[in-house]
Amino acid sequence: MSKTKLVVIGVGAIGRMHVERARLHPQCEVVAVSDPTPAGEAFARAENLRWFADYTQMLDEMRPQGAIVATPNATHLAVGVACIERGIAVLMEKPIADTVEQAAALTRAAETAGVPLIVGHHRRHNPILRHGREIVQSGRLGKAVSAVAMATFFKPDSYFDMAWRREKGGGPVLINLIHDIDMLRYLLGEIVQVQAVSSNKVRGYGVEDTAAAVLTFENGALGTLVVSDCAAAPWNWDLAAGEAAHYPQQRVNTHFITGTEGSMTLPLLEIWSYRGKKGWHDPLSVEMTTPHRVDPYHEQLRHFSAVIAGTETPVCSGDDATRTLAATFAVHRAVASGEAVTLPV
Ligand SMILES: NC(=O)c1ccc[n+]([C@@H]2O[C@H](COP(=O)([O-])OP(=O)(O)OC[C@H]3O[C@@H](n4cnc5c(N)ncnc54)[C@H](O)[C@@H]3O)[C@@H](O)[C@H]2O)c1
Repeated sequence: MSKTKLVVIGVGAIGRMHVERARLHPQCEVVAVSDPTPAGEAFARAENLRWFADYTQMLDEMRPQGAIVATPNATHLAVGVACIERGIAVLMEKPIADTVEQAAALTRAAETAGVPLIVGHHRRHNPILRHGREIVQSGRLGKAVSAVAMATFFKPDSYFDMAWRREKGGGPVLINLIHDIDMLRYLLGEIVQVQAVSSNKVRGYGVEDTAAAVLTFENGALGTLVVSDCAAAPWNWDLAAGEAAHYPQQRVNTHFITGTEGSMTLPLLEIWSYRGKKGWHDPLSVEMTTPHRVDPYHEQLRHFSAVIAGTETPVCSGDDATRTLAATFAVHRAVASGEAVTLPV
């Protein structure tokens, strides 16, 4: 079977990771990259890949089957549309776009052209989350009651050397919490209301360093989320789930889902339930599953190839990612207004 021919647009932090993951992949290969910076050119040379300063020239010359777009958020719509106009499938890094309107425009462009578009909410490709979703959907937890998600970590001071990370839009709500919001949507369904508060009291930048949100799900469940980039703590998915080697893994839970018949923790996948009588004076039992470990970025590449081949439908479509983006922006809107924000807006 021939490998799916891909290009990567933008080879900064995550674009490079995609190139490295694709190197080991049996189903796809990266044939060229585009990034106008000297660092981008040097990376291409080191990886022995063709390099283009202009991504449109690369798309026209290389005619790939798919493009991984890993450029800054503000460029996502223009770059995505350029691929779609050429009939080239898109794996768009998250967030799908800079605004909900742009996200909808990109999704419509792909639909109209009949070109596949998937969005890089890679945690959906983690077998731990997949298994957790199966447990929720099997009804084993009963009726969903609540969700608690922790995204508390400490980003080193050097992370903030780049000015945009100290300004509005560059904070942990849009960069990190969006992943946890997407996870909870994937597990429990649509979010219909968001309340939130935030603080910048520790770092003192123009953007939040900490935020807390309360979610109402369409099925009636309630959720609380805390995100902070100035908390010396292990309770965040990146450290707990062991998805990437540069995050030293910690054996802790970060997501807690309760239901009327049982509850579940992630990523350790403990399921708590009553074997006999059900009541807070009765003994609870706990059982634990260890799913086979799969690198979600590797699995996402396999999925992208399958979507291009027409054998799978997107695990995270443009519409899905737009709803995650809308719920994430709702956190900022709720902070600004001091009021609950109802979704969809
Ligand atoms: N899924 C994840 O876990 C994850 C992790 C990190 C970043 N991201 C997302 O990936 C995207 C990139 O983030 P990053 O941290 O890699 O940023 P980055 O700044 O490290 O890299 C972006 C790269 O895009 C290049 N670029 C800018 N304009 C370009 C253009 N017109 N053509 C080609 N290249 C261009 C820049 O030169 C830079 O090298 C963002 O949307 C971000 O939210 C996702």
